Amino acid sequence: MMIFMPILNWIGKEAVVNHDKEVPFRLLKKVKSLSYGENSQNLIIHGDNLEALKALMPYYQGQVKCIYIDPPYNTGNEGWVYNDKVNSPKIKKWLGKVVGSESEDLCRHDKWLCMMYPRLKLLRDLLSDDGVIFVSIDDNELSNLRLIMDDIFSEQNRIDRGILIWNNAGSTRGFRRIVKNHEYILAYGKNQELVESLYLKNFPAELDLIDERLQIKRTNRNPLAKVVFPKGLKIEGVEDATFKGLIGDGTNRIDIVGNEMVFKKGILIKDVTLEASFPYKNQMIEFFSKIGTGEKTYDYKGQEWIDVYFRKNGVPYFRKKRGTLVLGSVMNELPNSGSLDIEKLNMKNIFNNPKPVELVKRLISFFTSDDDIVLDSFAGSGTTGHAVLDLNKEDGGNRKFILVELEDKVAKDITAERVKRAIGKYGYKDGFEFCELDKSLFNENGQIEQECTFEQLATYIYFTETNTNIDRKAILGNFIGGYDETEYYLIFKEKGKNILNKEFLNKLEKSNKRKVIYADKCLIDERTLEKHNIQFKQIPYEVMVY
Ligand SMILES: C[S@@+](CC[C@H](N)C(=O)[O-])C[C@H]1O[C@@H](n2cnc3c(N)ncnc32)[C@H](O)[C@@H]1O
Repeated sequence: MMIFMPILNWIGKEAVVNHDKEVPFRLLKKVKSLSYGENSQNLIIHGDNLEALKALMPYYQGQVKCIYIDPPYNTGNEGWVYNDKVNSPKIKKWLGKVVGSESEDLCRHDKWLCMMYPRLKLLRDLLSDDGVIFVSIDDNELSNLRLIMDDIFSEQNRIDRGILIWNNAGSTRGFRRIVKNHEYILAYGKNQELVESLYLKNFPAELDLIDERLQIKRTNRNPLAKVVFPKGLKIEGVEDATFKGLIGDGTNRIDIVGNEMVFKKGILIKDVTLEASFPYKNQMIEFFSKIGTGEKTYDYKGQEWIDVYFRKNGVPYFRKKRGTLVLGSVMNELPNSGSLDIEKLNMKNIFNNPKPVELVKRLISFFTSDDDIVLDSFAGSGTTGHAVLDLNKEDGGNRKFILVELEDKVAKDITAERVKRAIGKYGYKDGFEFCELDKSLFNENGQIEQECTFEQLATYIYFTETNTNIDRKAILGNFIGGYDETEYYLIFKEKGKNILNKEFLNKLEKSNKRKVIYADKCLIDERTLEKHNIQFKQIPYEVMVY
């Protein structure tokens, strides 16, 4: 069904709607001295996110599970500057000037929209099909942002109502008729039908429960379930055994509440209440048949409980006591600001209005797990990196972050420094690679830059040919990968010349598959190429520009 939506227009729109395509491809250069830890896949990139996102595209297109951004709100006093190299006379006169306040800058909303639009398009392309994007904003640009998000992501991809409120009551200031004590976060999926909230996913409909009623305690990702195992239950593999206290490890644990759990000849002699991080009966039973006894204790004091009931068809629904198991549209009970998070790292007053780690953590905890990638292209003080590492520590995940920050001093002395200090203070297991934006892949004459390595060009070519990311492990000599019944080859940086000749042809494996071969020159006639099902593409002229 076609839905006709109001479409927002603004000065400069026609010049920026496809600007993401015109942005030159630049390479990323790792800076070892500013990186931390060994071989981390976390990235902190210094540079304009328009170019940085484009540089990430051949590696991460369609791979990012969750994006959180907190762009300039356009309040009129942030000192942000619109500086994109857009070839439009209307826009050129804006460049390099600080965007002013409502009364003195009549184009301030146009500039902001011109800045955001191509970046949001690149962010959409980086998201995985089941990925989500959260954008923090306040009343200055809320309505404009919502309309361009609807335009880029489509209204149907709002996640539920697509709008969250962060109640930051503590930042109330001044005498007004309506005192502002909240901000907004817009939430969209690349395809919202594929977006799953992990809390709901953890409770599949086919639950096979011992008791009708479970109690689930909210931890960040793994809920804890309270379950009664009834007297008389038989568990294979457990003969005479007594379990007590907390058993298991950080992520898979069962706590025997209050009493002991006593088996005689494999049969439970009285009812026992268990708290477990996995509310599946069969998993719990397997757990007891595998582990041994444990004696540790665990203090659950002060944690919140939520009752979970099951409908007849097995689908859970929640009755809240305190706290949140579902992601409510109003986010209460979070810190009012992230300043304290930074102060704890002995970095006082270094950054205005950082977001609280808990806020970003709450968002990403609902939608990411394992080794998902989280991206923040307006990184500021690095809250998102800190939140990812903290959540990983809490639930044993292995999520990765990518942060981009424009300002040189901020990127080095604040973003990277803060993440580094957080790793030191809280013992997070990961580090990060610090990257600068390097030269464009092509110079002004359209020639490939000298420094470009074989792998970089291969990555780029593979991406533009297939719209998917290269598997670097699959690169073998000149073979850079296969896709959809086609094999791709690159002859580049060869000792002599980069030539497709008979010698190369003889080395190729004989297969019927179509082959696309990139080289500077081809010395093989058309008929032979056709016979071997080969298409020659000349570097750089036929290297497509994404
Ligand atoms: C509102 S702050 C983000 C604060 C962050 N969420 C935190 O908790 O610290 C926005 C940041 O985006 C950066 N920024 C603005 N324009 C940018 C661009 N084009 N590319 C990359 N970063 C940009 C600014 O320098 C600033 O540090």
